[in-house]
Amino acid sequence: MKKQTSIRLLLYTLCVCILFVNCNTKKETKKVNASFISGEKWMDTDSLHINAHGGGIMFYNNTYYWFGEHKVSGREGNTALFGVRCYSSTDLYNWKNEGIALKVVEDSISEITKGCVIERPKVVFNEKTKKFVMWFHLELKGQGYNAARTGVAISDSPTGPFEYLKSYRPNVGVWPMNFKEEWKKTSEKDTISNKWWTKEWYKSVEEGAFVKRDFEKGQMARDMTIFVDDDGKAYHIHASEENLTLHISELTDDYLDFTDKWITVAPAGHNEAPAIFKQDSVYYMITSGCTGWDPNAARSFKSSSIWGPWESLGNPCIGKDADLTFNSQSTYILPVQGKKDAFIFMADRWKPKNPIDGRYIWLPIKVIDGKPILKWHDKWDLTFFDK
Ligand code: DGJ
Repeated sequence: MKKQTSIRLLLYTLCVCILFVNCNTKKETKKVNASFISGEKWMDTDSLHINAHGGGIMFYNNTYYWFGEHKVSGREGNTALFGVRCYSSTDLYNWKNEGIALKVVEDSISEITKGCVIERPKVVFNEKTKKFVMWFHLELKGQGYNAARTGVAISDSPTGPFEYLKSYRPNVGVWPMNFKEEWKKTSEKDTISNKWWTKEWYKSVEEGAFVKRDFEKGQMARDMTIFVDDDGKAYHIHASEENLTLHISELTDDYLDFTDKWITVAPAGHNEAPAIFKQDSVYYMITSGCTGWDPNAARSFKSSSIWGPWESLGNPCIGKDADLTFNSQSTYILPVQGKKDAFIFMADRWKPKNPIDGRYIWLPIKVIDGKPILKWHDKWDLTFFDK
């Protein structure tokens, strides 16, 4: 009897110990984030690495919503096997998984069938229609990066579900506003066959050889972002013309279509990954070069009008690894709510061999002498903007 009691007591003590250890571990994993540590794994509130690559952030009703590509591990990991994932946060440090906001579908006829490519989703709220609108770069399944389309989806709620509407190559049959009359008269065939990267070829791109080539079928649309201006007008900014030239196009008032207003920016400049912000009435844009998933030196531009002319300002990064954008590629520039001149440069450190392991690089932007400047910070927080 005595022996039984002591066994019971031992078992009881063991259980209490296990419970105690368990509770403490839980406390450990639920640790609240209070800073940005770029390049480390970023855990959501379920202690899972955030899966929202090539993302963008929308602020709505005192909450930030982060939308990005849901990646998986392995070779197929850069294709859309789930869709666009959403996270929410009220402080920018701690993110709750809100699930898949735009789901790919099993139907093989659909443009967003499982295995297509959905990149760089950006969501904006339309004050007039009270709808949430998502734009993204879409590549059709099995066609590599040849389709070069932009896709749009809509939702009544910030976290989705988003209903897929359509995809296309924009600006069919419309000249850019900064296109000279005399350029319209020559055929693209006069110039486009010139050997790439020669002086003559640069001239031909500047004079719209690729715009003309794609005039009837619509302009290519790859890496993209959306910018909503102070007056509520939204702009779709994307890499076009075989990634050689950026296009900025105005969206309709409901944000669901393109108006006929658009311009070309930095012809033959080979810019990808456009991200944009506005400070003191000046528009600033940060982009990357084109080296696939490998990092390269960022570029920056400014303009006093969205319609240009855009002045090239060179590499905004300073310090070690500045020539590789600190091993990352831009995706979005986030205005921090409630703080003046507070912008966060959001970038991706891609991991093409294991895409789900891709890391996030967030750095504060300072505009110094009219140029956006990015410096590396091992660890920083929003008090940076109070200094
Ligand atoms: C670079 C782009 O910025 C990415 O979004 C992706 O399209 C890769 N290229 C694909 O190589």
